[in-house]
Amino acid sequence: GLSRRAFLGAGAALGALGAIAPSRLGQARAPAPFLPTDRLTLAAGPLDMRLLGPDGPATPCYAYDGEPFRLIRLPRGARLEATYANGLHEGSSLHFHGIRMPNEFDGVPPLTQPLVEPGGRFVHQLPLDDPGTFFFHPHCDETGQAGRGLVGVLIVEDPRDPRFDAEHVLCLKDWRLAEDGSFLPLTEADGASKAGTYGATRTCNGQPRLALDAPAGGDVRLRILNVDSTRVMDIGVEGGEAWLIAVDGHALKPVKLDDLPDGIWRMGPAQRIDLHVRMPASGAPVTLGDYRASDVYAFATLTARGRTKPRKGPLALPPATLPAPELKKAEALSFTLQQATDAAVQELGLPPDDPLAKALVASFCVGAATYWSIGQVSWSAGTRLGLPPPLARMEVGKSYRITIKNETRFPHPIHLHGHAFAVLGSSKGRLPLHFADTVLVQPGEAVDIAFVAAPGDWVFHCHILEHMETGMMGWFRVV
Ligand code: C2O
Ligand code: CU
Repeated sequence: GLSRRAFLGAGAALGALGAIAPSRLGQARAPAPFLPTDRLTLAAGPLDMRLLGPDGPATPCYAYDGEPFRLIRLPRGARLEATYANGLHEGSSLHFHGIRMPNEFDGVPPLTQPLVEPGGRFVHQLPLDDPGTFFFHPHCDETGQAGRGLVGVLIVEDPRDPRFDAEHVLCLKDWRLAEDGSFLPLTEADGASKAGTYGATRTCNGQPRLALDAPAGGDVRLRILNVDSTRVMDIGVEGGEAWLIAVDGHALKPVKLDDLPDGIWRMGPAQRIDLHVRMPASGAPVTLGDYRASDVYAFATLTARGRTKPRKGPLALPPATLPAPELKKAEALSFTLQQATDAAVQELGLPPDDPLAKALVASFCVGAATYWSIGQVSWSAGTRLGLPPPLARMEVGKSYRITIKNETRFPHPIHLHGHAFAVLGSSKGRLPLHFADTVLVQPGEAVDIAFVAAPGDWVFHCHILEHMETGMMGWFRVV
């Protein structure tokens, strides 16, 4: 776990993050009737995209409503009734990632609903109380469906936000393509059991590189989403001042990108950030890139067009209003991320050089497609119809503090459904206090999160889609 010192002042700082007073939470009230302010149908279906260039071959992708990275914008406070229509030739479901909502609309078969069969529908009723940058995707055969592009963006706008001179939404996703435009296998054992199976065709909004513009001296809001299945990215900005103003949609006290370790924000699949970039008054361009790869992937360039008088300092978003966990009273839990083999061997209490331990390791590696575990439990796609017992049983309205320890050699972006949790800190000291729905836990690292439990059955999993499908997934029952 983390040292006590790392948490000194975390309680006070949570206050500074602007969470609402704990006393207002956890009071049982009859749910208000759901009165939709907005209704829409999201239809999943095939879409051909030319990802290898305008004159290149077409790739048989999937999309919502025939629109790559289908974008929905609604105001904070909206009550969205979204009907999912499955136009694929396989079962599917729709999950709104990061939205706090009644459990029955979470879209996780078989836990919260049955699979939506081809031609079937499912109606989701979503209260959009938290402003921010969210997204949605299927919650079954994730590598196959999200891997083919079935991902959309939900932006909940806050009328109180400062006025930016420009705003852009950037979806980062790589594709596993053969030269003829067809898909290469979206998962391979060697990837699934390690860092994941990477796509080599890198895109931003489906293009190799995005050309955007903004006034010289102007303030730009960039909503950047890592919607890739696999890749962890180090997002950096060159040529202009930049501040991190929200993580997973939730405002934080602006952090200058240059003040973060290596001047980047490390972002795993499913994580989002809002950046405030100030264009140089000189009219020079600004470049955005992933600096993790040995050769930097520059995914967008902002070119000056027109000019405006530069302002000073960052434009902070209004503080997030989220349930604030009570750290003093919180129940502490701890879950370790492991290779499934290690967990199984540990469970048997065998020394790793025991012949039975070795046989177990071998059997896991030969096609069993279970490579990972959380808290010594593996729940892989092949076994999803049989539910493992919950990782924890929790009480509605009670605060929980969870230490997530990564004992594997790979980073894991860990996501909890239906909540925004406070990220209290990391044993490596690299994370500012912030709210999130997904947190990247590096090899050998322990990260502490805390939240107020909401009623329902909520999955807790790695968002490297192959890891989730091969065991790194569990769930909490909150009653
Ligand atoms: Cu975005 Cu369970 O996932
Ligand atoms: Cu993982």
